[in-house]
Amino acid sequence: MFCFSYVTFETDSIYVNKLIYYGESSDILATILVTGGGGYIGSHTCVELLNSNHCVISVDNYCNSSKESLNRVEMITGKKIISYCGDIRNPDILRKIFRENKIDAVIHFAGLKSVKESVLNPLEYYDNNVCGTINLCEIMKEFLVKNLVFSSSATVYNSDLTSPFNEEMPVGKVSSPYGRTKYVIEEILRDLKNSDIEWSISILRYFNPVGAHESGLIGEDPLGIPNNLMPFVSKVALGIFPYLTVFSKDYNTRDGTCIRDYIHVMDLARGHLLALEKILSENGIEVYNLGSGMGYSVLEFIDAFEKICESKINYKIGEKRQGDLPIVYADTTKAREELGFKVIYDIKKMCVDTLNWQRKNPSGYSNTR
Ligand code: NAD
Ligand code: UD1
Repeated sequence: MFCFSYVTFETDSIYVNKLIYYGESSDILATILVTGGGGYIGSHTCVELLNSNHCVISVDNYCNSSKESLNRVEMITGKKIISYCGDIRNPDILRKIFRENKIDAVIHFAGLKSVKESVLNPLEYYDNNVCGTINLCEIMKEFLVKNLVFSSSATVYNSDLTSPFNEEMPVGKVSSPYGRTKYVIEEILRDLKNSDIEWSISILRYFNPVGAHESGLIGEDPLGIPNNLMPFVSKVALGIFPYLTVFSKDYNTRDGTCIRDYIHVMDLARGHLLALEKILSENGIEVYNLGSGMGYSVLEFIDAFEKICESKINYKIGEKRQGDLPIVYADTTKAREELGFKVIYDIKKMCVDTLNWQRKNPSGYSNTR
């Protein structure tokens, strides 16, 4: 028995359908729609899904990514992705995808993620993240697909809590519109589950995803000047930026700089597969922290990176960044006990793989965007 599906290409806004063969259906475990598949975490998760014999369909409007990342996922895995260029707020494109493919579950990454941008433009964030998710869930409901893995964030935990954060701790007292979109979506998903027991939902609260696939073919490619630590440090290492500004040394921590829980993006990707297995095998709604459970300060992080790149990372101590908490790391007990999730990559590997990606792609995917 063979398995066929339509691939949709966008050519000057005209959609062209082409029937392709992507393997024997008996090989395929499940068909997964990945929203935001072209993005940083989405593309790495696509690798894990394809390597585990799932059929992968991606929908992305490429507002913060490049189609090239999906080409590279295909190079890494030697397998095809069925990719649609479109916005998840557009019900027509979603209906088209659900009509053309027999989808078993959705992993929902698509969204905007900059804290700073969300403060400047909250309406865009509520529209994209919240309205986008509502639209997606409406269409899933219409096509009776009720299995969902959702990308949430550690940012939903109340800002006055003490680490390690566990899933029972209070959420919602957040410091940015971005964080509030994640909190609101979590609440919407709980209401959805309450309204219909057939839904099976896994909410994953990521801590600090870093690193890249070890091939160096895919990695994080922020537009413009990066806000996050790892992409900034790796660009300083390559001489793209002259120095890093460390946001204050006046915190009440072991060296005065903030402590975070960094997790390798391939470990994170594996966490999605475990969550997927669970929602496909039982109904429910569960929240899981995905982190390493270990905290590194900014200076410890710089030190780890210097050892890998064998050169100095220039830095200056600057002002505190608004909204930064001194210490954030995960209690990983629930993910370990219920999903069997355990990280395998340490901070050294996170730095090695980031540096490899950055050296091979100093301008990211920019020449292909
Ligand atoms: P990313 O920006 O690299 O990926 C998001 C993808 O979604 C991009 O490819 C973008 O083009 C696409 N997209 C955005 N809006 C869309 C829309 N309306 N329709 C279709 N596609 C759309 O971000 P990422 O780091 O891969 O993050 C993935 C998810 O995880 C996001 O929801 C983010 O909020 C969440 N998250 C990320 C982090 C992190 O540190 N990277 C931490 C916590 C949570
Ligand atoms: C930030 C967001 C968080 C979001 C996450 C992933 C804020 C307040 N939090 O988390 O909501 O989910 O990114 O997108 O923006 N640092 C420097 N100099 C830099 C950059 C960072 O010193 O140039 C420090 C920060 O103070 C922080 C640590 O490095 O202590 C990590 O920063 P970052 O990578 O931005 O992640 P978070 O702040 O944890």
